[in-house]
Amino acid sequence: MKIVKSTQVMQKEMNLEKTAGKTIGFVPTMGYLHEGHLSLIKQAKEECDIIVVSIFVNPLQFGPNEDFDRYPRDFERDKKLAEEAGADVLFCPETKDMYPEEPVVTVSVNRRVDALCGKTRIGHFDGVATVLTKLFNIVSPNKAFFGMKDAQQVAVVTGLVEDFNIQVEIIGCETKREADGLAMSSRNVYLDENERKEALHLFQSLSRAQDWLLKYDSGDTEQKMIKYLEEHTSGSVEYCKILSYPELLPPTKSDKRLIFAVSVKFNKARLIDNVIIDNMFIKTESEEETCSVH
Ligand code: PAF
Repeated sequence: MKIVKSTQVMQKEMNLEKTAGKTIGFVPTMGYLHEGHLSLIKQAKEECDIIVVSIFVNPLQFGPNEDFDRYPRDFERDKKLAEEAGADVLFCPETKDMYPEEPVVTVSVNRRVDALCGKTRIGHFDGVATVLTKLFNIVSPNKAFFGMKDAQQVAVVTGLVEDFNIQVEIIGCETKREADGLAMSSRNVYLDENERKEALHLFQSLSRAQDWLLKYDSGDTEQKMIKYLEEHTSGSVEYCKILSYPELLPPTKSDKRLIFAVSVKFNKARLIDNVIIDNMFIKTESEEETCSVH
């Protein structure tokens, strides 16, 4: 596995690979890799010739009171894991190479950010869209692979590449979970023993919400999710929402795809999780109930 630090070298090498007719699969990360990232690398390996993994903790997507400085970092461990999973190139630029000075232009996200994490993490998705625009230009991938745990990020990135005509296919991959259902995340290391036990209730609340919605119609399902999480965790519930996907608007009967999403803030970790349901018809007297979970 090659390790590349320079953005210029990376751009040149990828141009050469493209000219040689190779397809490039890209897994952008902020490091501290876990099984979820490794499954993205493995999926990329099945679909593309050259697999690039980037590790860059992007300062632009962290708010002033967020965890940029203490975001977990372990380059040697990441290098070993990425190589074992099948990465061909590990791209790990320095901040001064990505942002030599204050950017003249940044990307501003207009839609799909007024809900869920975007509502409280002001500017977060602008930072994500800006760094990904740069990374897509540097790596020029054919396909880029993202975990659906960050479903709002996938909705924004899909909009970014459509609106800016960036020639990359965005692949949203299934959320990887621990045995008890907890979604894998680099931030899970911040949980203490008790919080780790409680954290499984995020996924539990999502599973129950589907039943509540089907049985009792949409009215108070979000409230029930909040109550459930307040009773079963010591964290503070940031949101429990059922929205259309990918637009992230209050759902109507014609919406074919819904997202159930939750966020709970524990002492040192803010956890998120979601499930996306296709063809869920909210129960009425004349309608059938059907749903399929991703
Ligand atoms: O999901 C992440 O780790 C980051 O938001 C990403 C996509 C690498 C951009 O910095």
